[in-house]
Parts: sequence; structure tokens; C-alpha cells
Amino acid sequence: MQFKLVRYFTLASIGMFGLVAISLVYFEHQQGAFFKQTEEQQAAFFGEVQQSFARQQDESARRDLLTIHESGNVNLTRLFANALWARDFAPFVARAQAIDIHPCRAIADVDAGGKTVAPPEKKACFADVGKRIMALPGFDDIDAKVYDAMKKSTVFKIKVFDLRGVTIYSSEHEQIGDDKSANAGWRAAAHDGTPKSELTHRDTFSAFEGVVENRDLISSYLPVLEPGSSRVVGVFEVYSDVTPFLKQIEATSAQIRATALDNQAKVDAAARTNLAEVDAASNRQLATVAVLLSLLFVALLVIVRRADRIIRQQEKERQHSHQQLAQTEKMASLGQMVAGVAHQLNTPLAFSQNNVLMVKDALDSMVFPMKVANRMSSVLKTTTGDVVTLKVAQLRSNLARLEDGDVDVDMLQQMLGDVLEGIEQMSEMVVNLRDFTRLDRASVASADLNKSLHTVAYIAKSVIPHDILVVEEFHPLPEVECNASQLNQVFLNLINNAAQAIDGSGRITLRTEADGEQVRIEVEDTGRGIPPEVLPHIFDLYFTTKPAGQGTGLGLAIARDIVTQHGGEIRVDTRLGAGTTFIITLPIRQRAALAEAA
Ligand SMILES: Nc1ncnc2c1ncn2[C@@H]1O[C@H](COP(=O)(O)OP(=O)(O)OP(=O)(O)O)[C@@H](O)[C@H]1O
Ligand SMILES: [Mg+2]
Repeated sequence: MQFKLVRYFTLASIGMFGLVAISLVYFEHQQGAFFKQTEEQQAAFFGEVQQSFARQQDESARRDLLTIHESGNVNLTRLFANALWARDFAPFVARAQAIDIHPCRAIADVDAGGKTVAPPEKKACFADVGKRIMALPGFDDIDAKVYDAMKKSTVFKIKVFDLRGVTIYSSEHEQIGDDKSANAGWRAAAHDGTPKSELTHRDTFSAFEGVVENRDLISSYLPVLEPGSSRVVGVFEVYSDVTPFLKQIEATSAQIRATALDNQAKVDAAARTNLAEVDAASNRQLATVAVLLSLLFVALLVIVRRADRIIRQQEKERQHSHQQLAQTEKMASLGQMVAGVAHQLNTPLAFSQNNVLMVKDALDSMVFPMKVANRMSSVLKTTTGDVVTLKVAQLRSNLARLEDGDVDVDMLQQMLGDVLEGIEQMSEMVVNLRDFTRLDRASVASADLNKSLHTVAYIAKSVIPHDILVVEEFHPLPEVECNASQLNQVFLNLINNAAQAIDGSGRITLRTEADGEQVRIEVEDTGRGIPPEVLPHIFDLYFTTKPAGQGTGLGLAIARDIVTQHGGEIRVDTRLGAGTTFIITLPIRQRAALAEAA
């Protein structure tokens, strides 16, 4: 099959370019996805950072609020203590401490769902202590003073504990008597002398001003130091209202969060714009690559088409010169053959001519007897009676002349028979020649290769020395689809080569055999054989070991071309000094291959 360069290039390069394009699109897509992911990660990170800032700001504002209020409360306590402790609270605390709370503390706490709580009787016991404290003299006075001191301040509630942890005073009277000795805030203040505060939110809260709702409060446990010393003499618990401050903090936080969200939106928008730009850039890049690839393809296509044209042209020229070589070779072998045929025809032609001349002479001498016979026949026809009168003298002289030209008719017949045989020989030669030449016209057809080989052998014999015996060992062959004219040329060359390889006498055996879907043709000779150094070259164009004028070195090269074009093969088997066999195998059916080659 002919190699279609342009089609092959087109398909292969379109395939390759497609692959490159797919890879590029894939990588661009990957890159885009990576960029998008990075942008998203960055935006998320930025968001987190902003959130964290907002959170930190919120937390630190609350912490600062707590610290500021706590220190304010510490000062407040100090002022309060300086103002009220020594004169009002100290004697009252001393009186309250005289109330024995041991019976209440002796009541064991109970376990309620994993939490240790005071049982109702214990609470009742301390409530009773509270009542007794409130019944102490000076309570109302203290209560009034505390109320006066705290009203209109941010302090919502105040409690005072003694060093046992008992609530000596609370602006909420029900809490008086409560035991807070287990409270961590009280402990820190009472034992370590350090204030402890926490921010709480209360839905409802009982304050000086009455019950208030939804309040953020800071509760601080504050040690009460004896004025002029650092001795802790009691503990205050102060609840201050920080709702407006917290609201402000929350408003600021909300503002920061809103700014953060706004920033986030800006970052997202910038990311989207970047992404769109990157996408557009990669699309532009892809389009540029596509255009470049297309240009490359077109340029290569132009080059390949030109190369293809040149290759075709060269192929045509090669075929043309090959045809010319084949023609030359054919003419050379035909020339040899014609010389042989002429020689073959010469002998029968010569003796036929000779015999015909002799018969013609013999026929000349038969003219007179024929005349006599004619004369006698006419005399007999004109005579009516039974008696014929002959002029004896004249008759005698005629008879004498008849005896003189005595003609041997048998010999004449023999000679004509020889002539006929000669003509038959010549006609056989002519028939074979006609067969040989007629096949020249046909291109691809079914042929009887036994007959072809026989014809070629017959004609070849005319140029082969008589000492060489040509033996035909033909087996039945199916009709083979082939160019019989070309195969004849191959056979003739093999037989000629065989004959030329035999010195003196020898034998050439032509063998044919069917072999499945193939036929095998062998030309075996008893010649010199082929030397090993010559063997690799015998199928080369122009390789010959024969003297100039005898061999062109084309025979086997062309033979191999022809056999290969038939889809067959030719090989050689040789033994130096013993002989050579050329073996050709041909497929029975290969019209398509040959038709293409033709
Ligand atoms: N039967 C054979 N026995 C020995 N040598 C052979 C035989 N056939 C071919 N050769 C060798 O192969 C060479 C090439 O053969 P080929 O038929 O190609 O060319 P050629 O016979 O030399 O010339 P051409 O056939 O063109 O007249 C011959 O010169 C000869 O040396
Ligand atoms: Mg030859």
C-alpha cells in the first residue's frame, strides 16, 4: 500500500496538536483552579484575621472595662470604708459576729445531681441568722447610710461579709445571713487581700432603685482594709452597672465587624477581579497558542505537501527508469532469443526449400508422360469403334522418351513428407513465439504457469547449447493471477542464467508444484554454483560476473522486483561446483496488490 505522507502527517499532527491543546487547556485550568483556591484561602485567612481582631478588640475592651471598674470599685471601697467602717460597720460587725453560726454550718450539705448544695434547713438556719442580724441595733441606720451613699451611682448593690464569710449586710435584705465562705471571690478578698471581679449579665436584678432588667454588671469582691493599715477586716461585694459601657463596646465591636465585613467584601471583589483577569489572560494565552499551533500546522503542511510532491516526482522518475531498465533487459533477452529462433527456423527452412526444388525438377520430367496420357485419353474418347489405329513409329519414340525420364514417385512423396515435417516444426516455433509475444500484451490475468514455463523453455532452447538438457518436472498447478508476460521474462532470465552457468554438458530442471495458496517454481541447474563472495550481490542492480556484452546485471534485480510486486518471493540455494536452484513462490490470488503495482 502506498504511504500517504500528507494524510499521515495531517492525522498525526492534528492528533499531536490536539493532545498539546488538551494538555494546555488542562494545565491552564489547573493553574486557574490553584489561583482561585489561593485567592479563596487568602480571603478566608484575611476574614479570620479580621474576625480575630474584632474578637480581640471586644475581649480587650471588656477586660479593660473590668479592670477599670475593678480599680474604681477598689477606690470606692476604700473611700466607703474610710467613711463608714470604723464608726458604723465595725461595731455592727462585732455585734453580728457574736451570733453563733456553728449550728448552721454543722448541717451537712447534700448532693443534688453531682453538685453539693445546702439543704433547705441549712438555708433556713442562715436566713434565721440574717433575721437576727437585721434585728441588731444600728442596722437601720447603716442601711440608710449605705443607701444614701450609693444612690444615683453606678453601684446597684452592695454586700458586706465578715471574716467568717457571713453576709452581714446586703442592700437586698433577704440575702443577709447567707454563708459565702465557700465563694472563690470572697476567699480571694478575705484570705489574700486581692480583689476579684467578673462580668455578668442579669435578666432581672434587684438593685437599690428596685428591680432592673437586662443589665450587664461587674461584681467585685473587695477586701476592706482597716483604715491606716493593710489588715483585712471584712469583704465588700459591689455590683456596678456597666450596661451603657458594654453597649458602647458592642457598638464599637459591631462597627469593627462591619468594617471587617466591608473589607472582606472588598478583598473578595478584588479576588474576583483578579480571577477574572487571570482567566481572561489564560484564555488569551490559549488563543495565542492555538493560533501559533495553527500557523505551525499550516507551515508544516505546506512543507510536507511540497516534500510529498517531490517524493512522488522522484518515485515516478524511479519507476520510469526502472521500466526503462526492464525494457532494456527484455530487449536484450528478446534479441538473444530472436537470434536463436532464426537459427532454429533456418534448418527446416533450408531442407524444405531443397526438397521443394527437387520435387519441382521431378515434376518437370513428368510433363511428357502426362501429355502422352492426355493424348491417349482424347484418342480413346473420339473413337467410336472397338479397334484403335496407332502410329506405331511415333508411339515407340514417345515410349522411349518416357523410359528415359523415369520418375521415383515414392521418393517424391518422402521428400514432401519431410517438407511437411519441417513446416510443422516451424509452425510449432511460430505458435510458441506467438504465445510468448501475445502474453506481452496482457497485464493481469489468470495464467497456466506450466504452459508459460514450457513456452519459455521451448524458446530458450533455441539459444541453449544442445549439450544442455532441459527437463520439465511439472505438477498440476491452479491458474495463477499474474502478469504472465513479466513472469515469462523472469523464467527466461533464470533459464538463461542456468544455461550460462553450465560449462559443457549439463541439465536444467524446471519444476513446478502447488503448495496451498501458493505455487512454487524451481529452476535448477547443474552448473558452477555461486561463490560465497558473489552470493550477497546477485540481486543487485548492474551486478554481473559475465564479460561485457554478455551480461548487463539486470536480470535478477528485475526478476526480484517482478516477483515481489506479485506478492511472492525469490530465493536461491547453491552449492559451489554442484549447481544452483532458484525458487520462486507466488500467491495464487493477489489481484489487488498487482493492480496497484500496475
Ligand atoms: N544459475 C546461476 N549459477 C551461477 N551464478 C549465477 C546464476 N544465476 C545468476 N548468477 C550470478 O548472478 C549474477 C547476476 O545475474 P543477473 O541475471 O542479474 O545478471 P547477468 O545474468 O549477469 O546479466 P543479464 O541477466 O542482465 O544478462 C550473474 O552475473 C552470475 O554471477
Ligand atoms: Mg541473467
